Amino acid sequence: MGLFKSKSKEARPIFAPLVTDMHCHLLPRVDDGSKSEEESVTCLRVMKAAGFESVYLTPHYNIPRFPNVEEDIERRFADLKLDLATHGDHDGSKMLGIAGEYRVDTGFNDRIAAEKFLLIGGKYLLMEFSLHQQVMGLDQVLFDLQMKNYDIILAHPERYPYYSSSSHVLQHFKDMGVFFQINILSLSGFYGEGPKRKAYEMVENGWVEFMGTDMHNTLYAQALIDATHDRKIEKLVEKHTFMNRLFAHPDEEKEGKKF
Ligand SMILES: [Fe+2]
Repeated sequence: MGLFKSKSKEARPIFAPLVTDMHCHLLPRVDDGSKSEEESVTCLRVMKAAGFESVYLTPHYNIPRFPNVEEDIERRFADLKLDLATHGDHDGSKMLGIAGEYRVDTGFNDRIAAEKFLLIGGKYLLMEFSLHQQVMGLDQVLFDLQMKNYDIILAHPERYPYYSSSSHVLQHFKDMGVFFQINILSLSGFYGEGPKRKAYEMVENGWVEFMGTDMHNTLYAQALIDATHDRKIEKLVEKHTFMNRLFAHPDEEKEGKKF
């Protein structure tokens, strides 16, 4: 844990009931997440200490910022797993799955047409919007995805400044069967007071099916350690049931990948 400034706290395994983290950026050097294998391993150790047994890596797919290609991502993922196993970290290697966090961008309709997605659990598409401006035409996008039998998870709805926690647009997404995933670090105020308040309100509304770390680097890892000492977050995890455990065995996933 030499990358951390503070060594005063160890993570507590309060997220064990979730079993799986299904949103993070720990495939090195493909987006704004981890910059090295070492950083990824450090972050994964923190996640394990926080109670997670398995982790899906979900690189950004976002044109033009992160024009990732699924074939390349899968190759890099295989290399990372081999690297972990070669260095004796077989548990670390087995606990990982690969998917993506797909931005609804200018190339998104082409993706839908090509059905070119790396999915969580072979079925769930993790989708995000711009943090700055509201995307128009989402009804059609969601309809097109659902016609192709994707289950849609919207990443961190609490972080979009243009949606309130009782937004009629978000209500409409819920009515369409879209799953919501909030960021654990929103609950601790990592992104500010607005996302924190909205995250709690959305959970209390019964809108939230998934929780994710959205971990990018060791700064987030330190914040996750701190979050494991937050009694309010601990109580929330104890009180509510989340669907993360659906993805408990990413290493056994073989079928249903739409790529
Ligand atoms: Fe993310």
